[in-house]
Amino acid sequence: MAVAQRAELTIVEDDTYRDMVYEGTAPPSLWRLSDGHAVVRIGSFAKTVAPGLRLGWIQAAPDMIGRLARLGYVYSGGGVNHTSALTMSAFGASGAYHEHLTIVRRAYSDRRDALVAALRRSPVHLDVPSPAGGWFIWLPLPAGRPAADVLATAEQHGVSFTPGSTFHVDDADDDHVRLSFSLLAPAELEEAARRLGAALAETR
Ligand SMILES: Cc1ncc(COP(=O)(O)O)c(C=O)c1O
Repeated sequence: MAVAQRAELTIVEDDTYRDMVYEGTAPPSLWRLSDGHAVVRIGSFAKTVAPGLRLGWIQAAPDMIGRLARLGYVYSGGGVNHTSALTMSAFGASGAYHEHLTIVRRAYSDRRDALVAALRRSPVHLDVPSPAGGWFIWLPLPAGRPAADVLATAEQHGVSFTPGSTFHVDDADDDHVRLSFSLLAPAELEEAARRLGAALAETR
């Protein structure tokens, strides 16, 4: 925030996972820490309701919102899905969205717990963090087992993941992997962890 303010930059805060919090409360958003001008915060219903909705919202200073709302595509008639927006507006106003959040938070935290517990039983010792929110475990790999090597063996065992270096412009974080627990049921995640453990034991 301080660097952006000094350089007079606007931060675009992609805050899509904020409602996927399982313990405590999420850390304050950059928007909340700002004076209401340096940050444009973007939310989405893609994670909480359905990716296919293609619907979200923007929180920003009124002059910024005004400029965005006046953009040509909004009134050209081609850009906004009014049916989805009005349906989600009714869903939120009725209180059903908040009930839905309680249900999906429980479902995802059950999946997280299943994967974390199964990884902690791995034959190769792993330091498995249990994330307090979101859909992913950022897993440090044991020394001497780079993610690319583990991935090749893991795929022979029928399990896959995203190597940490995918999230960098260089090869940093090749000793981490991102494991997603959003899609699969707890029993499938346990099987995935078992296969990953077998792949790690084979990778030297
Ligand atoms: C961090 C992040 N932001 C935004 C999106 C997309 O949101 P939308 O489908 O509403 O554009 C995703 C995933 O789909 C995401 O992971």
